[in-house]
Amino acid sequence: MTRRIPDIGLEMLSGQVEIDLWEGELPPPYEVLKERIQNAQGLLCLLTDRVDRELIESAPHLRVISQYAVGVDNIDLETATRRGIPVGHTPGVLTDATADFTWALLMSAARRVTEADTYTRKGNWKTWGPSILLGMDVSHATLGIIGFGRIGQAVARRARGFDMRVLYTDTKRIPEIEETLGVEYASLETVLREADFITLHVPLTQSTYHLIGEREFSLMKKDAILINTARGGVVDPDALYHALKTRQIRSAAIDVTEPEPIPMDSPLLELPNLIITPHIASASVQSRNQMAVMAVQNLIAGLKRERLPFCANPQVYNQQW
Ligand code: DGY
Repeated sequence: MTRRIPDIGLEMLSGQVEIDLWEGELPPPYEVLKERIQNAQGLLCLLTDRVDRELIESAPHLRVISQYAVGVDNIDLETATRRGIPVGHTPGVLTDATADFTWALLMSAARRVTEADTYTRKGNWKTWGPSILLGMDVSHATLGIIGFGRIGQAVARRARGFDMRVLYTDTKRIPEIEETLGVEYASLETVLREADFITLHVPLTQSTYHLIGEREFSLMKKDAILINTARGGVVDPDALYHALKTRQIRSAAIDVTEPEPIPMDSPLLELPNLIITPHIASASVQSRNQMAVMAVQNLIAGLKRERLPFCANPQVYNQQW
């Protein structure tokens, strides 16, 4: 287990398995992890652990990988599948927390909450003024959602209270929920051109890596605001810097960066029109507890060679092991 998870998960494991727990506050170094999983049948890992081909192939007894997260882009799923190792993850239980946080970022960027807080603390609040810290209206604006899975849909549901026009794009259209959610399907290009707020909810894969780059920023409105609670790698950081610095778009709020953590000499940190939070969109007590329960359920099932309740590579069960 590469990090201490909430007690509710540890209690479920107690007495059932022998645990080798990495107690460090930072992730175990790659070589240490590689060495320590030599004799392990199960691995409970975090998105901060690189579980690549070399690591998986070096663990002869591994039966299950259980990720304490929904995203599994840090794990080589192909190798795990080829080796007959199911990979567990935690979908669903962080959908609301992540959608809520997306809105927290969206509202903060729209109404410049973090800038206003800094302004106040610095003693700049001398009087009320007609044009101090003006932001953008959220109500009646157009919201563009890129990636319309569980989290994208939960974000759309919340937009109804703001009477927004909601455009979504994804690799496939989902006509059956368009009317219920009050959303319209559009091409990526249309979303980029027409949305006032653009929010990203795609997994990080080869085809979404740097999905938002120079060209995409050039299509956005001058007052567009970009929100990223998905994965840092979905946005090209140099293009983001350029777009914000030259005011090609108005502002952005990101909970994820490439790399993570963001290096302290990153030029992005100098931009006043960018909010950066440390990958906390799912960080509510309830979500993190439920993630622990699911991760442990997956781990135990895998150790018993039972089907994982929440499996990220179900194709593993269609092959002989
Ligand atoms: C995930 O689960 O993939 C989030 O990024 C962290 O909760």
